[in-house]
Amino acid sequence: MESSDYTKVAILGAGRGGRALLDLLHQIPSIEIVGIADRDPDAPGLARARELQVPVTTNVPGLISNHGLSLIMDVTGDPEMETYLYTHKPPTADILSGSASRLLWKLIQHESKLEAELLQAEKLAGIGSFAAGIAHDINNPLQLILGLAENLTEERDLVAVHEQARDIIQAVKRTSAICRDLTGYSRRASPHEDVPVAVNGKLDEALKIARYASNFHDIEMIKHYQPGVSVKGNPDELLHVLVNLITNAVHAMEHVGGTLTLETKLCEGQVDVRISDTGCGISPDKIPEIFEPFFTTKAPGKGTGLGLYNVKTIVNKMHGVIAVDSQIDKGTTFTLTFPNAEPDRQGPLP
Ligand SMILES: Nc1ncnc2c1ncn2[C@@H]1O[C@H](COP(=O)(O)OP(=O)(O)O)[C@@H](O)[C@H]1O
Ligand SMILES: [Mg+2]
Repeated sequence: MESSDYTKVAILGAGRGGRALLDLLHQIPSIEIVGIADRDPDAPGLARARELQVPVTTNVPGLISNHGLSLIMDVTGDPEMETYLYTHKPPTADILSGSASRLLWKLIQHESKLEAELLQAEKLAGIGSFAAGIAHDINNPLQLILGLAENLTEERDLVAVHEQARDIIQAVKRTSAICRDLTGYSRRASPHEDVPVAVNGKLDEALKIARYASNFHDIEMIKHYQPGVSVKGNPDELLHVLVNLITNAVHAMEHVGGTLTLETKLCEGQVDVRISDTGCGISPDKIPEIFEPFFTTKAPGKGTGLGLYNVKTIVNKMHGVIAVDSQIDKGTTFTLTFPNAEPDRQGPLP
């Protein structure tokens, strides 16, 4: 991004309002928070700022004289600060204070709630297409259980009885694993703070879920995983992104088959996640439209057109970017590039 595309913001006041603004603005890639100031060294926002690596200061004049500053958000609630700012602010900077910054906070909260609703709605709309896959995957073990149970009614040999009982238990466990995967996926993304997420594990999880939604018949799988790569974000949301991209890739190869390649790579401090198919491709004039909400080329009931829109929203929230490379009848590659997250060494990653 060009440096002129950034909005440079300074936050004054690190109480509840300041902390909330920090959390919020930090999620927006085009905003650079140049610093946050508070007189009280124990203010809650200051600890959060250090976590997010936002500069912390008590020096308000120094902070607001930052070169290129375009916005000062004053949430100190201090009338003296307001007077001070109006006489000392640099001419290029605007001030947002008092009820205006409270209103902004409310609007953005509202927007993020709507966004979460949209994400959930799209996910639930997609679950409909899972039904056939689930029915199939549950029916197989059920048939097995039925056969084994029928045998058992006749079986006199105790060793054989034990063996068949163990097979039944295995089949039941497989069925409940399917239910567990799907209830995990369909629940609302838990709102916890961003954590390091192991990408390879999430790709495998996404693959398992995408298998219910689409027909993997005649699809060859290739995995090139770099061990140990992780990115920072919400694990449920990353899963949602990967399920969407894999499902699209498989749809693009429907009826003709092809190769699905999943790749992760750590290069120059960034994590690349690549999902490639050898499917129908996307014509160059359509590429700019695919991330628009409701753009779909699929039959009604098959596509919502919200998948890639949500993918992009989540990826950007994770400070990542998405690139697409496609050729008609050759295939498509989506590449996600994220900042590298240091893996959490204290325990397994979610
Ligand atoms: N891997 C892909 N190969 C070919 N076309 C794709 C691929 N991924 C997305 N598209 C195109 O982008 C459109 C939008 O995708 P998406 O937002 O996921 O909505 P949906 O899958 O519901 O149609 C698809 O309808 C399709 O035309
Ligand atoms: Mg889709």
